[in-house]
Amino acid sequence: MFFCYLLIIFAIIPSISVCLCAPSPVNATFCQADWVSRVYVNSTELLIEKHIRQYTVTHLEVFKYPSNATRELSPEIRTAPFDSFCGVMLELGGDNEFLLSGKESNGTLTMEICDQIVPKPKNVELKWEKYPVNFTETLESIECD
Ligand SMILES: *[C@@H]1O[C@H](CO)[C@@H](O)[C@H](O)[C@H]1NC(C)=O
Ligand SMILES: *[C@@H]1O[C@H](CO)[C@@H](O)[C@H](O)[C@H]1NC(C)=O
Ligand SMILES: *[C@@H]1O[C@H](CO)[C@@H](O)[C@H](O)[C@H]1NC(C)=O
Ligand SMILES: *[C@@H]1O[C@H](CO)[C@@H](O)[C@H](O)[C@H]1NC(C)=O
Ligand SMILES: *[C@@H]1O[C@H](CO)[C@@H](O)[C@H](O)[C@H]1NC(C)=O
Repeated sequence: MFFCYLLIIFAIIPSISVCLCAPSPVNATFCQADWVSRVYVNSTELLIEKHIRQYTVTHLEVFKYPSNATRELSPEIRTAPFDSFCGVMLELGGDNEFLLSGKESNGTLTMEICDQIVPKPKNVELKWEKYPVNFTETLESIECD
């Protein structure tokens, strides 16, 4: 029964709420993030009972590490289950390289739509191929206070 309610709630809410992010320059989004990484997404899993979507990734190029962390990021990244809950929905298949950023807490990586550095304003498709060719240099040149 409980599971049934969950299904109903998840079926209705996505259509009535939206996640809105205030526009933010690349360097501000980068500086607010705990971690920024170009990743290959190996798999995704929807953990309904925990209300999370979890991606398992391979970190290809890390642009920012959490300040206190060892120089190693967890392969697991958690987000909300749907985009209406500000979850990051990645379209998998073909070339699964994405630029992702988010928060870290005690080794657990999380992310929301508004944490993301987007290739173009309002384009939340985070495929690496959508970013300018020299975006690696752009990210490496950012200085945060
Ligand atoms: C982002 O860059 C602009 C222009 O270079 C600068 O004025 C601003 O302070 C930077 N923001 C952060 C968070 O570093
Ligand atoms: C994830 O995919 C990458 C690239 O194809 C591969 O090198 C890596 O072994 C995969 N990792 C897992 C855990 O499957
Ligand atoms: C980093 O670690 C130090 C010492 O363990 C701790 O005092 C500090 O609060 C930590 N900072 C963050 C941002 O977690
Ligand atoms: C942080 O993670 C460690 C190891 O997974 C765990 O033992 C500890 O309880 C966690 N601390 C907090 C505050 O969640
Ligand atoms: C990236 O390329 C553009 C156009 O070629 C150039 O204007 C910009 O300065 C370059 N940025 C970096 C960080 O190299």
